[in-house]
Amino acid sequence: MREELRRKAGEAWAFRTRVEREAARRFARLAAAIAAFDADSPVPALMRQAAEDEHRHAALCADLSALYGQPAGASAEDAAIAPGSLAPRAAVLYEVVASCCITETESVATLTTLLAEQLEPRVERVLREIAGDEVVHGRIGWAHLAREASISDVSFLSPWIPAMLAGTVDEGLFAAAGADLESRELLRHGVLPHSLKRSIFVGTLEGVVFPGLEKFGISSLPARQWLSNPAARSQLG
Ligand SMILES: [Fe+2]
Ligand SMILES: [Fe+2]
Repeated sequence: MREELRRKAGEAWAFRTRVEREAARRFARLAAAIAAFDADSPVPALMRQAAEDEHRHAALCADLSALYGQPAGASAEDAAIAPGSLAPRAAVLYEVVASCCITETESVATLTTLLAEQLEPRVERVLREIAGDEVVHGRIGWAHLAREASISDVSFLSPWIPAMLAGTVDEGLFAAAGADLESRELLRHGVLPHSLKRSIFVGTLEGVVFPGLEKFGISSLPARQWLSNPAARSQLG
């Protein structure tokens, strides 16, 4: 494998290690927050299990990043991401929708696409193990959203979906990428070419996430405008 590609693959797996660690901390925090206002909810226990899954994922990703010569650092941030104007319970719902309904659903789509490719055996084992868990993590989010929607109006989230999406994607996703980021050679090491990443992201929003949100009365119109409007996207970062 060329040194340049090896480095790119290592960086991608080191990045994933960090994302998994952050997810572990977020799940633990959200589990405690939900238990505090909804004692009968099954969601906190599921989230604590999910936090353990994410620790396991982080270890698997760290092994791969080391294998590609890029040891992952130990750091993981856990900042609450909801806007300060939301009341605490609404802020938790914001985070659950952003991190489970959107991010975990997108993650499943990415993993499914990768698993259809010819993969290095070690990469395939890791992706397969992670994919099974992320499906469950996505469902935890939809379960919490359904529970909240059954007792209150959740349509207030609609104008916040663009900010959630902006927080999910890396800035460059909608820009053209250099030839190195479009390389299909990286696919077998678990890294998607840039343009494929973008089409999966948008396709999953339109096919799964938006219809899912609409079921709970959360309009996808602001999010669709954000997707189709580069100026709106650059404003949100
Ligand atoms: Fe994970
Ligand atoms: Fe997850």
